[in-house]
Amino acid sequence: MTTTNTTQSTSDSVVSAGKQERATVAAYAYDEWMEAQGAPIHRGFYIADVRTAPVGTWRARGAETAFIQLEGQQGVSEARITEIAPGATTPAYRMAIDEVVYVAAGNGSTTVSNGVHGSPSTFEWSDHALFLVPRHTLREFSNLRGDRPVRLLHYSYLPLAMSVVPEPQFFLDNGGAATPPVDLSEAFDEAQAIAGGSGLKWVGSGDKAYWFGNFFPDMRAWDKLRDHAARGAGGSTVSIQFADSDMSCHMSVFPSRTYKKAHRHGPGRVIIIPDGEGYSVMWQEGKDKVIVPWHEGSLVVPPDRWFHQHFNLGATPARYLAFHPPLQFHGYADKVVDRAKDQIEYFDEDPWVHQHFESELAERGLTSLMPSQAYTDPNYAFKPSV
Ligand SMILES: [Fe+2]
Repeated sequence: MTTTNTTQSTSDSVVSAGKQERATVAAYAYDEWMEAQGAPIHRGFYIADVRTAPVGTWRARGAETAFIQLEGQQGVSEARITEIAPGATTPAYRMAIDEVVYVAAGNGSTTVSNGVHGSPSTFEWSDHALFLVPRHTLREFSNLRGDRPVRLLHYSYLPLAMSVVPEPQFFLDNGGAATPPVDLSEAFDEAQAIAGGSGLKWVGSGDKAYWFGNFFPDMRAWDKLRDHAARGAGGSTVSIQFADSDMSCHMSVFPSRTYKKAHRHGPGRVIIIPDGEGYSVMWQEGKDKVIVPWHEGSLVVPPDRWFHQHFNLGATPARYLAFHPPLQFHGYADKVVDRAKDQIEYFDEDPWVHQHFESELAERGLTSLMPSQAYTDPNYAFKPSV
């Protein structure tokens, strides 16, 4: 049972354009580099909408950008927004590490080449697409529409990489020091569902859904998920893995007017909302709670070992896409090694949790669909939603 006070978060990210007092005391090599770039930096616990969050010019890259380094990223993962004006193309740049890109808004294309030989590969995308740009490649992004900007969300392990080799030029625009790991001519075919996860980098216990490839055309439309009973609410999930990469994601969908169980794990996970309306509560054991409202385009990062819990206030299923830190950082709760320590069952939670949920629903003229037995029967099992 938790007995913390609650704190309504009154703002989203804190924007700065350089060095700033941080709640965390560590100064990672990545932070020092990021702060020297001159583009806006979003800190805090969440971003209300990456489609509209302030961006500014990153002169070295020649792009409209905002860096995202929220509390829970903690020097593990990079997140970054790129805005592309109607009809424009970003200057090409190279990275020596894999980069995952989510299309928060817009229609466009990506051209990837090794910059040395062979034909470039170009593929088109639209809202809610997800793709991985392989390491050691040159890439540029184009807005194919003339009437609205594109907003991309980039995710990588650059902070972790720079803690090993602090020179950014080792990872950025390093002139094609190595060969891309995949054949670019067929790297961006549409991703496929893989039964049982056979041959993938990480395979969980039980009957899970796996989705494998480098190009995932519509995260909001994908419906091949599997019940994830352990986290409650009748939610379902799909594990997303990329070709020849340790990077991974998962996406969860859970029903209207329900909420999932609180759990906790390590740092570095960045969560973006492709669809739905609700909020998350995050707290360090014994400390005040932070409430994060969300809808399509919101981004939130649970800090290291903070409990967090997701609530669906909408009339439709909500879905969230979580970018994972390296496999070494996967949390205990995800492995279900110690559920008693890292997950709070409904019958054991602070009554405030469901009271607040019900009051939020009441403001919308709605009522909870959480079954009363979930709070009294430790063995209560939701009916799977898929
Ligand atoms: Fe989590």
